[in-house]
Amino acid sequence: LREIQFEKDMAGKRVLVTAGPTQEAIDPVRYITNHSTGKMGYALATVCMRRGADVTLVTGPTAIPKPEFVKAITVHTAKEMFEAVKDEAPRQDIIIKAAAVADYRPKYVSHEKVKKKEGDLSIPMERTDDILKYLGDNKREGQFLCGFSMETENMIENSRRKLEKKNLDMIVANNLKVEGAGFAGDTNVVTIITKDEEVSLEKMSKEEAAVQILDRILMCGQK
Ligand code: CTP
Ligand code: CA
Repeated sequence: LREIQFEKDMAGKRVLVTAGPTQEAIDPVRYITNHSTGKMGYALATVCMRRGADVTLVTGPTAIPKPEFVKAITVHTAKEMFEAVKDEAPRQDIIIKAAAVADYRPKYVSHEKVKKKEGDLSIPMERTDDILKYLGDNKREGQFLCGFSMETENMIENSRRKLEKKNLDMIVANNLKVEGAGFAGDTNVVTIITKDEEVSLEKMSKEEAAVQILDRILMCGQK
């Protein structure tokens, strides 16, 4: 599998991909998460591997099998993802953050199951670390940093803001409201945004989108 189908145009490159959701515990029974399936990130990791790269995949819990010939590290929380990524980042040439990281986690985790009572329940939440922002702030010379952006409105404008704020080289934006885009399903509709360009791809399989995203990353690296 590693040998067929793709030209080895990523041979010698070290690539870190993050994928999947994070899970933030409320108590021993419950957690807060999102709809990420990991498919886009796993497609990216698989295509990188087939193109000859040395791939590390830091992944939240998913239902899909881990790609072969990839160093996979499974994490659950945003905190665990942050620690794993911090460890792995310095030796990477390309980092692609496809994971859907929780922005907030419950401030207190109950050691016992929370029992229901009369009336409403509110859970105090605190911010998680912005892993991508950390990577942008600590980017080493020559390292290429690609984020993802999930929006339901003002996609380009909001994504450009993230590109700048997090010191990214590229951000891949998708609009959850477009048919065939986002979390559900095997397809995606993405716009690849760099400092001086915006390229909108039509609806395609997540694997094909991964190929196109990586083509663009390699093109940027050669500039
Ligand atoms: N990200 C991250 N750590 C976080 C939150 C997000 O590394 N705590 C990364 C995601 O992996 C993604 C990018 O930041 O590559 C953008 O995520 P997104 O949720 O679209 O944007 P946010 O910056 O979190 O802003 P908001 O959710 O408010 O739109
Ligand atoms: Ca977010």
